[in-house]
Amino acid sequence: MDTLTNSGSDSRPTTIGILGAGKVGTVLARLAVASGYRVLIASSRPPAAIALTIDVLAHGAEVTTASDAAGRADLVILALPLGKAVPRDGHQALPVGELRDKIVIDAMNYWWEVDGKRPDLTDSGATTSELVAALLPGSRVVKAFNHMGYHDLDEGPRPSGDPDRKAIALSGDDVAANEVAADLIDSLGFDAVDLGPLAEGAVLQPGRELFGANLSAAEIRDVVEQAAA
Ligand SMILES: NC(=O)c1ccc[n+]([C@@H]2O[C@H](COP(=O)([O-])OP(=O)(O)OC[C@H]3O[C@@H](n4cnc5c(N)ncnc54)[C@H](OP(=O)(O)O)[C@@H]3O)[C@@H](O)[C@H]2O)c1
Repeated sequence: MDTLTNSGSDSRPTTIGILGAGKVGTVLARLAVASGYRVLIASSRPPAAIALTIDVLAHGAEVTTASDAAGRADLVILALPLGKAVPRDGHQALPVGELRDKIVIDAMNYWWEVDGKRPDLTDSGATTSELVAALLPGSRVVKAFNHMGYHDLDEGPRPSGDPDRKAIALSGDDVAANEVAADLIDSLGFDAVDLGPLAEGAVLQPGRELFGANLSAAEIRDVVEQAAA
């Protein structure tokens, strides 16, 4: 889809839900708590199973179930393996109803070592975030936090205007949702570079020009320009 929509202005989210409590999920939770957000985090296991991990790695985040996090959060970040979010058997793994009408940031990448060989995720020509969006009717999906490794994400936050500040690129079909995601990225300590519609996020995916990028906003724009040339 390359038609941008604008669903109007959104108020700034105060509660962030994070589905996935692994490497990326716990770093994002820690950064969001440090930035003053209320954070709800979940895995597929009962909350008690990750409580100690979260207390150590993201102290202050509230551990809950995925459906509760999705239901109570203003904005939800998907930080679970893509193959788990989009199971091979078509089973509904995400809390689709609770995610309806919400801004959903898809931080997931297809990684065959984790997700297995999945032609359904790789061969259509669509970005994986477009495939995720198709599973989430009514959700406003933004692709972000995909290209930067979790160590760089952890060490990257800098105040706005810092010459060493790194950037996170994003894409999405809903202009207002992209603005909210960009504001969150800025709050977490990174410049945001909006690439436009979700399909433009192909450059963020494994094997593509921006994957692994730990760059400034100007450097990211240069890479995107060269990729398009
Ligand atoms: N690692 C990176 O540097 C990096 C950077 C950018 C993007 N990404 C992408 O971000 C995603 C997460 O990567 P990661 O490295 O953080 O993986 P990870 O360390 O393996 O963590 C994945 C987390 O997702 C949870 N999970 C599994 N199924 C779930 C479900 N149905 N609902 C909620 N949570 C579920 C897992 O816990 P249980 O299995 O116990 O439920 C685990 O806490 C992947 O798609 C990856 O490609 C990774």
